[in-house]
Parts: sequence; structure tokens; C-alpha cells
Amino acid sequence: MLFTISHFYLQTVLFLFLFSTNHVTCTTTTTAATTTQRFKQAPKFYNSPNCPTITSLTCSDEAVHVAMTLDIKYLRGSMAAILSVLQHSSCPENTIFHFVTAASKTTSTIILNTTLTNSFPYLKFQIYPFQDDVVLGLISTSIRSALDCPLNYARNYMSNLLPNCVRKIVYLDSDLILVDDIAKLAKTNLGNDAVLAAPEYCNANFSNYFTPTFWSNPSLSLTFASRKACYFNTGVMVIDLERWRIGEYTMKITEWMELQKRMRIYELGSLPPFLLVFAGKIVPVDHRWNQHGLGGDNFRGLCRDLHPGPVSLLHWSGKGKPWARLDANRPCPLDALWAPYDLLETPFALEA
Ligand SMILES: *[C@@H]1O[C@H](CO)[C@@H](O)[C@H](O)[C@H]1NC(C)=O
Ligand SMILES: *[C@@H]1O[C@H](CO)[C@@H](O)[C@H](O)[C@H]1NC(C)=O
Repeated sequence: MLFTISHFYLQTVLFLFLFSTNHVTCTTTTTAATTTQRFKQAPKFYNSPNCPTITSLTCSDEAVHVAMTLDIKYLRGSMAAILSVLQHSSCPENTIFHFVTAASKTTSTIILNTTLTNSFPYLKFQIYPFQDDVVLGLISTSIRSALDCPLNYARNYMSNLLPNCVRKIVYLDSDLILVDDIAKLAKTNLGNDAVLAAPEYCNANFSNYFTPTFWSNPSLSLTFASRKACYFNTGVMVIDLERWRIGEYTMKITEWMELQKRMRIYELGSLPPFLLVFAGKIVPVDHRWNQHGLGGDNFRGLCRDLHPGPVSLLHWSGKGKPWARLDANRPCPLDALWAPYDLLETPFALEA
């Protein structure tokens, strides 16, 4: 089922991004119903003739390394995201997935492993259990409790979790769909010293992400003094793990989280520490690679439209998720673009 909207232009209003937060991956409400989800098997995807032959993917610089978190609650989203990556990839067999699961949920990890193997028998992947209890003590509450789930913070720890030989990753949230070749995103040039690349949004009012306490304290707010800091969404990032390790960025992010526990310097979960460390220092990626906010706003869950311009990646960040709205028979118009990637077996299909 090929569906490409790479050259799909829509003139729409540019929304402010204030409450369009990234990534929602939470494991706290795993129910019996979600653990019995059954997924269809995806077809095998083949390399096109011009793809390089890679004998060992794990440490290869030629392979595309995709990093995602994985939990039962958002599994349906993850499965669709994986399928979309493979389907639009010109070298799908040269793509390796690095999945991070919550170490505290051993049973979930086994279910996730089995589900992935059954639905994607040809997928090259590794699972890395993340010591989620490590971040629990660092998390302060935010407006949406889902943002406080420890697995949300796993993106800070990729350099520790993945093997040292993996140099560059594309980090992806679970609530998105690619409609273009991920290799194009993965080959983003990070220049001589950038650690991270992502689409930047300089029209968003950056001051809203931090509290008056933060701005009124010069020793804190001066952190942005010599840079042109712009908002970016941490749901889609190209990261140079080698430079990350050398620069000890996990520690730098953690230090801001420690401070947040003592004085409230920001509101939303895992995003602001990334902004504090990286905003104004990242390589900007074309906006087509993160058409975010499709989940709607955090308060009322209103439908949102695409931002103007081409689309390579659709991101349902925000409160609403396409699978939940489709199940409730109250989809937003753009949820129809997610549906073709849904691998969930419907009860009807099970009976057939
Ligand atoms: C996933 O399953 C494979 C075997 O199918 C096993 O080798 C691997 O250790 C499992 N990974 C985890 C994290 O349980
Ligand atoms: C950004 O928001 C702050 C605080 O809400 C406000 O004082 C400032 O005028 C805004 N700046 C712009 C350019 O809208």
C-alpha cells in the first residue's frame, strides 16, 4: 500500500507551538486489553539494486541506525512507524532499529520482543532495557503526566545504551509516520562540531518554555545570551553519539533536571533540558521532516492541520493519537494518513 505525499503542499495557518509538545511514551497504564493486541505480519522489504552490501550492520556507518523507545501502551504507534520507515526506504535491509524498553517491565520486554519478531520477521533490531528507575528521582511533574514517564527521558541516554561503535542515529518518537526515505534524513551533515540536527522553529516564542523564575535569574537566563535559541521538537533528531559522549551531554542535561527539582525553571517534561543544552547550537533540518502537532493541543485535543510546505514525516505530537481517535470513530482529517500503516489485527480479521 504505497502512499506518498512528499510533494503534497497545503497552505495552512502557521500555528504556535507552545503546547505542541513532543513524544508521549508512558507505561503506567498497561491493561490486559493492550497486552493482548495482535498485529499482522508486515511484508518483506528489499534493497534497491544500488544499495551497498553491508555484512555487519550493527557497527556500520553505512547503515541507517534508527533509535526508538518501545512500550506496550504505544506499541501500535511504534509498529506503524517502523512499517512506514521500511516502506519508504530505498535500502530497507540496510536499516537497523535500536529499541529501548523499560528495564523495570521484564514481561513487557518479552512481549515486545516477540511481537516485533512475529510482525517483522526480517527486521534487524536490538532491544536495550533502560534502567528507568534512574530517572524517576529526577523527574518533576508537568502539565501532562504522560510526559513524566521515565521512558520519555531515555533519549538522553542513547549514548550509554547503544554500542559504542554506533556513531550516528536517527531518534524517532512512536507517534509518527515517514513518507520519505529515512536515509535522506540520516545523512544530514552535522558539520565540524554539531551534536544534533532537527527542524528548528524560530517563530515560536521561546520565552514561554521557561518560567519567570528562570528569566529573572541572570545566572540562569544568561545560558541563552550568546546564541540564537529557537524551539525544536525532540521527537525527530539526528544525533552524533560519538560527539555526545565526548561532550558528556547526558550529564549536562541531567544537571538542568537536578536544578529543576530545586527550583521550577520550566513546565514541560523532557523537552526544556534539551532546549537549555542545545537550542541555537543544532543543525537545522528542513521542516518537512517534522510536521508536528497533529495530535492537537494538550487542553482540548483540537484537530490540527499541516504546516505549509512539503511533507516527509507526519508527527501526531500533542494530546490526541490517531489510533485512539480512529477507534473512537472521531478521527481528525489527517488521521486518514496514519491508518494505512496500522498493523493491528481487527477483531473482524481475527474471526475471518
Ligand atoms: C529478544 O529475543 C531474542 C530471541 O528471539 C533474544 O536473543 C534477545 O535476547 C531478546 N532480547 C531481549 C532484550 O529480551
Ligand atoms: C513572548 O512571550 C513573553 C511572555 O509570555 C512576552 O513578554 C513577549 O512579549 C513575547 N514576545 C513576542 C515576540 O511575542
